[in-house]
Amino acid sequence: MSGDSLDPLAMLEWYQTAGADEATAQDPVDRFVASEKKAEPVLPAVRPSPEPMLFSAAPLPPAPRPTVADAGTRALARGASTLEELKKIMENFDGCSLKASASHMVFGAGVENPEVMIVGEAPGTEEDRQGIPFVGVSGQLLDKMLASIGLDRTKVYISNILPWHPPANRKPSEEEVALFVPFIRRHIVLVRPKILLMLGGSAVSALTGVTQGITRARGKWTVYSDEEFSLPALASFHPAFLLRTPAQKKMAWRDFLMLKQKLSELNA
Ligand code: URA
Repeated sequence: MSGDSLDPLAMLEWYQTAGADEATAQDPVDRFVASEKKAEPVLPAVRPSPEPMLFSAAPLPPAPRPTVADAGTRALARGASTLEELKKIMENFDGCSLKASASHMVFGAGVENPEVMIVGEAPGTEEDRQGIPFVGVSGQLLDKMLASIGLDRTKVYISNILPWHPPANRKPSEEEVALFVPFIRRHIVLVRPKILLMLGGSAVSALTGVTQGITRARGKWTVYSDEEFSLPALASFHPAFLLRTPAQKKMAWRDFLMLKQKLSELNA
């Protein structure tokens, strides 16, 4: 991993988590003298790479082209003009083997035109059993995070990139994500939220094409655009990750405060 691409704040977090709680050495170091002594390396001229779209205020590029044939899901998704229609189309879609092993399709839950639409990765075991998104341990943490900024399930809409539970909670394959992205994009258009909250790296890369990892992608406002509309979007850590890595909860808290602030601006 190259040190120069790291977010200083994330590095500081990491040092703190790793137990480095002092920023001093035993003897003082004069960094000015040290840097003067260092010969300037002669580097070849490199054109700076463009800023990733997630950090810009400009609209995101259109949905990434699937790397595999999407089995016509884009055309299918476009055919839905209501959430009910979309749900039926997805239920009838047999182009993915996950449907055979899952118990229930987990379409989505919540209100239309909500304050926030939350998109996760894929249903877990409990979600598969109940057919409702985020009702397991991750969902319980998500509920607490929402409550901390005055939101609950009557004010949000929750869904996932995949509607079917991958066996043994495995990560969805690239092909599976490519198949279902057109459905979740249509889902967002039909739900018409004020804000889009993407939880975890899978949701971010599926919806925006940005693959730099959630630690760098989180905590920055961007604009999510589709053919028909655009809206402010924010990425944050997935609650399942926070359960495994509680030290990152404070970063997620910052993201949720940003969300709260943006909502109060939009509702002013
Ligand atoms: N994790 C997800 O990404 N979605 C769910 O619905 C549950 C767990």
